[in-house]
Amino acid sequence: MRYQNTPVVLWSNWRLKTAITKTFISTNMCGIVGYIGNGNVYDILIKGLHRLEYRGYDSAGIALVGNDGNLKVYKAKGKVSNLEDYCKDKSLEAGVGIAHTRWATHGEPSDCNAHPHYSEDGNLALVHNGTIENYKVLKDALIQHGCKFHSETDTEVLVQLIEYIKVKNNCSLVDAVREALNQVVGAYAIAVIEKDHPDTIVAARQSSPLVIGIGDDETFLASDATPFVEYTKDVVYLKDEEIAVIKKGEPLRILNLDNRESTIDVKTLELSISQLEKGGYPHFMLKEIFEQPITLRDCIRGRIIEGGAKINVNGINDNKDIFLNAKRIVIVACGTSWHAALLGKYLIQDMCRIPVEVEYASEFRYSNPVLDDRDVVIAISQSGETADTLAAAMIAKRMGAFVFGISNSVGSSIPRETDSGTYIHVGPEIGVASTKAFTGQVMVLTLLALGIAQLKGTMPQEKIAEIGEEVLRIPDYVEKVLKLNDEIEHLSLIYTYARNFLYLGRGYSYPVALEGALKLKEISYIHAEGYPAAEMKHGPIALIDAEMPSVIIAPNDHLYEKIVSNVQQVKARGGSIIAIVTEGDTEIKNIADHVLEVPAMPECLTPIITSIPLQLLSYYIAINKGKNVDMPRNLAKSVTVE
Ligand code: G6P
Repeated sequence: MRYQNTPVVLWSNWRLKTAITKTFISTNMCGIVGYIGNGNVYDILIKGLHRLEYRGYDSAGIALVGNDGNLKVYKAKGKVSNLEDYCKDKSLEAGVGIAHTRWATHGEPSDCNAHPHYSEDGNLALVHNGTIENYKVLKDALIQHGCKFHSETDTEVLVQLIEYIKVKNNCSLVDAVREALNQVVGAYAIAVIEKDHPDTIVAARQSSPLVIGIGDDETFLASDATPFVEYTKDVVYLKDEEIAVIKKGEPLRILNLDNRESTIDVKTLELSISQLEKGGYPHFMLKEIFEQPITLRDCIRGRIIEGGAKINVNGINDNKDIFLNAKRIVIVACGTSWHAALLGKYLIQDMCRIPVEVEYASEFRYSNPVLDDRDVVIAISQSGETADTLAAAMIAKRMGAFVFGISNSVGSSIPRETDSGTYIHVGPEIGVASTKAFTGQVMVLTLLALGIAQLKGTMPQEKIAEIGEEVLRIPDYVEKVLKLNDEIEHLSLIYTYARNFLYLGRGYSYPVALEGALKLKEISYIHAEGYPAAEMKHGPIALIDAEMPSVIIAPNDHLYEKIVSNVQQVKARGGSIIAIVTEGDTEIKNIADHVLEVPAMPECLTPIITSIPLQLLSYYIAINKGKNVDMPRNLAKSVTVE
């Protein structure tokens, strides 16, 4: 994401001046995909849209140019499957095409507001992920020049602007796109096709992701590489202010907004098609829950050596002095990543004795933060694209802090924009509700804390080695916990029709309670609140009755006796209790209505284990209620809007 100081845009050729002072540009979500080649354009684009549906599913659309020279645009409100139904009896023959799946910002979800948008003369079609912030001023100017608009979107303004410039200057599509983008304030990843030139796609990006896949005699583009991973592993990540000219039979060209050629840096993808399929599971979410023994192994691999005694996290080793001298660590994140961040605070403070603050990125960025070059800011984001987290990281960088990213998405914006960082290596997470990414983030934070503690000498080496050995066993513990699946499925039937839930925990189990409550809310639409168990008596206890179940995370840690009394307080008010306890527990077992037992392990490692039964509980409750767990209403996986 680019920080813009005082971008003043002069609309000289419109005889119109406007000054727009901006801080950060945020993008909307949405997924775009494009293809040119000899394959079945429609099939490739539709499959690609399905893979990008995690970015939004309010509407979908496709534009195709056939060998007959006709531009065909088909769109439908709702999921990609609705578009497929709509297209069943349509002419789909094409040599080039672009497609879009939308998360609505400007204009309600409707057929009309769906992308692709096309120019009034029907010559151009365009798909867009982003937000054109000065679209009103451009729209007014275009209306004065006789343009008519059919949708409420900012995107239609962009395609009409390109067409207007193309006709007015009698120039090529790429020249018109460049000229138009020089007039636009906002964020975009776009792809444009032209009826009269069915051999070309012009694409560009500013603050929204766009990757180009280069195959044999075929080229792909998309918001991420998932739509084309089975066709090619050679990719080019477009940078901000770059325009790609993709022409059939010719090498890819990339220009910048000043019309200078950029060098083409081809990277090789490390992503396999099996990672993008359900692999026999009914939902991605369940697959991702069950993948956790493998993903945690991948996450730990190489980072603990000498049988547990040596912590080897590259991001720390390369920046030893920074971590040794850090006076404070601030962690910024959103959603589930924020819950991982909160666990990061407990871990780092406990092990490294460095003060840690945890901030919602959306609040941090507008809070006039106080930071300097002895602060380390950790930005956590599964997608690496969350607008608020990215903006928070950029503010911290600008203020002189060392910014460290933790992400799952190779090549995404946060890894690119931060000073250093590390990947969680859990593979693509497709279910909108985060599961394996959460445990991966917590694992990386644990390793980070252990690594800094080893560097600083804030923990005895024997203790580090003892925890290190247990970390290596975590994937086995997770396998064991997953055996609770049938019991949890059965338990879920009892609680499916509860209208509210409380999730309670103390210490390391408090962020787990927050995450458990979020999981339930996200996919089952049941109201759930996570609370520090001891705070319950300052308010939420008033809610407890026979209709309000509590999920209490109570492993055998140093706060065990304290939480036993919280469990008793709930029971005394007639509330029913599901408790997550350590194997061999006797006290809570006698009080709670249901207990789920997890293996014993060091306190700092319990969150990874105790969060897994909560993932399964929310999954089964949502399934019992007939909800779409992979695509819950109103949510999207990658939140690139403020
Ligand atoms: C959305 C997703 C959550 C995710 C959050 C932050 O709300 O639905 O699962 O935790 O964004 O996303 P990030 O990619 O930054 O971790």
